[in-house]
Formats: sequence, structure tokens, C-alpha cells
Amino acid sequence: MILLAPSILSADFAALGAEVAEAEASGADWIHVDVMDGHFVPNITLGPPIVKAVKAHTSLPLDVHLMIENPERYIAEFAAAGASVITVHAEACVHLHRVVHQIKELGIMAGVAINPGTPASAVREVLEDVDMVLVMTVNPGFGGQAFIPNTMRKIRQIREWANEINHNNLRIEVDGGVAENTAPIVAEAGADVLVAGNAVFGRTDRAAAIRAIREAAES
Ligand code: DX5
Ligand code: ZN
Repeated sequence: MILLAPSILSADFAALGAEVAEAEASGADWIHVDVMDGHFVPNITLGPPIVKAVKAHTSLPLDVHLMIENPERYIAEFAAAGASVITVHAEACVHLHRVVHQIKELGIMAGVAINPGTPASAVREVLEDVDMVLVMTVNPGFGGQAFIPNTMRKIRQIREWANEINHNNLRIEVDGGVAENTAPIVAEAGADVLVAGNAVFGRTDRAAAIRAIREAAES
């Protein structure tokens, strides 16, 4: 089953409660929350207090994407704030295996993300330990960037490795430039969690936007 996770990065930050409630009413499966620290990526967004505030306005799982250095310092706080999934970047973790288990010990889903320039092999040694791999389809930092098609071969490779080790419920998430036109491409490659910022919150009719992306992915 394909999950749709609208990214609040493209929502109205002054009206986040209403924005996430509308996304939920419009058929979203998860709410994607982009955390940026101004070091790992050239942008700054939000921290645990905002996650906690958003949590009060939706019953959907919060999918927290940490684009930060030293994520191990903040994992407990994001979990306490209401994250159901925490994804860290492989590039930001010296002790990736330890960080993944730190997340899992909190009883939530653990994800590992890789940038477009990072090979799929960066997640291979933790594949059996994670619930999700996030294959970035843009360079992280901003919404509204163009989809990078070369990243699709990494999705195929990761799905192949997951099959080899019988990790049948591994989720593969894509993030960046996902819209009606790219949804069939990512779904065909084997992704099953689709993040969409601009393509959902950039539209006035969010329900129509979510429906169109879902239908395109399932076509
Ligand atoms: C990019 C973020 C994404 C972003 C995607 O750094 O991780 O989640 O919101 O935005 P769109 O869908 O507009 O490319
Ligand atoms: Zn993201």
C-alpha cells in the first residue's frame, strides 16, 4: 500500500494546526515534518516544540525527517514530542547503527535517509535494522526543487537487497519533486511512501492534489 505524506515545509507556518488538520481530512496517511539545522543543510526550520504543537492537531503519524548534524542528541526529544517515525541521514551519523537502535528503543519506527550523491551501499549494513529507507530525490534543504531521476536505480537496488534478506515490510520513502508526473516513476521503482510538499500544500484543493498523486502512483 502506498502512503502519502504531505510535507508541512510548504504549508502556511502561521496556520500549521489548520494545515495539518486539512491534510488529514484530505486523505493524507502521514504528516512529513522537515527539521533543518542550518549546518547539515543550508536552511533552518523547526524543532521539538513545533512537532508537539502539530501533534495536537492530527491523529496521523508524524514522520520526522531530521536534516541535522549529531541527530543522536535530539532523538529522545522528538520522540517525546510525538514522532512516530524518525529518519536520520546516513551522512550525518558516524555511528549509524547505534543511532538506528537508539530510535528503535523508543518504540517508534527508524528510518535512514541518503542524499542524491550518496550511494545505496551507505544503508546496506543497517538494512535489517531499519523500518524505512528515505531515498532523497532532491538535495535536501528546500521545497519546490526538480526531481532527480538517477536516484531511481538506488530504490531498485535497495528493494532487491531487502528481498534478499526477506525484509518484506521495509518501507522506501521518496522526498523531493514528487508530484502527479513523477509518482508513477517512483512507485514503479519500488518506493511506497511518497512525500509531497509543493504538490499538496502549494495547491488550494489539497484533497484533489492528494487523490491525483495517489492515483498516478497506483496506475
Ligand atoms: C527537502 C525536504 C522535503 C521537501 C519536499 O529538503 O526534505 O520534504 O518539503 O518538497 P517538494 O515536494 O516541494 O519537493
Ligand atoms: Zn523531507
